[in-house]
Amino acid sequence: MTPIDANPRTAWTVAALRDRPDWIFALDDRGRRDLAAAVRRARDPAKTPFDYRRADFDLGAAGPVIARAFAEAQHGGGIALLRGLPRAELEEAEFELLTWAIGLHAGVARPQGKASHYLSRVSDAGTVYRSAGGRGYSSNAELDFHTDGADLVALTCFNAAQSGGMSMVTSSVTAYQHLAAERPELAEVLHHAVPFSRQAEQAPDETPWYLNPIYDVAEGRLHSRWNRNRVTSAQRLEGAPPLNALQREAMDVLDAILRRPELMLSMYLEPGDMQILNNHVTLHSRTEFEDHPEPSRRRLLFRLWLAPPDSGRLPESWRAAYRAIEPGVVRGGIVGQQQDAARRAFEASQAQDLGMRLAS
Ligand SMILES: [Fe+2]
Repeated sequence: MTPIDANPRTAWTVAALRDRPDWIFALDDRGRRDLAAAVRRARDPAKTPFDYRRADFDLGAAGPVIARAFAEAQHGGGIALLRGLPRAELEEAEFELLTWAIGLHAGVARPQGKASHYLSRVSDAGTVYRSAGGRGYSSNAELDFHTDGADLVALTCFNAAQSGGMSMVTSSVTAYQHLAAERPELAEVLHHAVPFSRQAEQAPDETPWYLNPIYDVAEGRLHSRWNRNRVTSAQRLEGAPPLNALQREAMDVLDAILRRPELMLSMYLEPGDMQILNNHVTLHSRTEFEDHPEPSRRRLLFRLWLAPPDSGRLPESWRAAYRAIEPGVVRGGIVGQQQDAARRAFEASQAQDLGMRLAS
């Protein structure tokens, strides 16, 4: 019996998205002006990001458009593209703060790694992706199809690469349907938990690896978590159960399905674009890229991981990764090793502003 997602919009193909461009949202001049003004009014270089509250930023005419884009990613097809952020009007630090401000309105930002940072600079910092502690966002490598570590990921583009850096997104629900139709025994295998590495970023109360299935169901909705790099890394960690041949085959076939042209949406993010993905129903990747020689033109995206207020229940098997699975709870992220009082106070105030509960 194939579990089909309760929301049929998540089971999209490339042709379906091209037929209904209702996942693409564009800001007009007024919305753009309002955002630029909001950032300039609120910006105080003496503040850290954690010092800002959502009430500090009036998004003006852009507010409803941004809210619709986030709703489409979360409750619609799992993907949204928002175009026309005021890139030309803002300097890098202002654009970074704009990303943060949008996040303050959309959910509680989640930490993203060992340094417990809540807003990532996605650029080539020379990281080796295929190492025990490797992360893709700080490398220029081609990435495996994967899910990020929170309910939603939002990526704003400040600079595109000189070449490459194409963004690819596939519906994990559609991919599952193809796998289940073609190789039902392999689809079944992906419901069994496999070890995922924490890439040496674990918090003091976390283990170096944890078990998570690649697919599971909660409240009639199919959820996916997949990251070959982390599953491969975990195989070298002490105590992690080895993968069997059938599991490896299931992962290989899944990865091949994800890259089928009729399922894999490819796009280049342009400066001023924001891509929003629901990690439970989409998988994403990007191609290798080459930077412009001038430092000021190097590829630069800002990345937020968010726990939105109106989230649904996650599968019980997601608990190790998300630390909580209950609806409307602040969950997900990579807590990392620098969690401190300022970060905890930020999470508490954001949760309060959004009517959310903190994970106990
Ligand atoms: Fe990612």
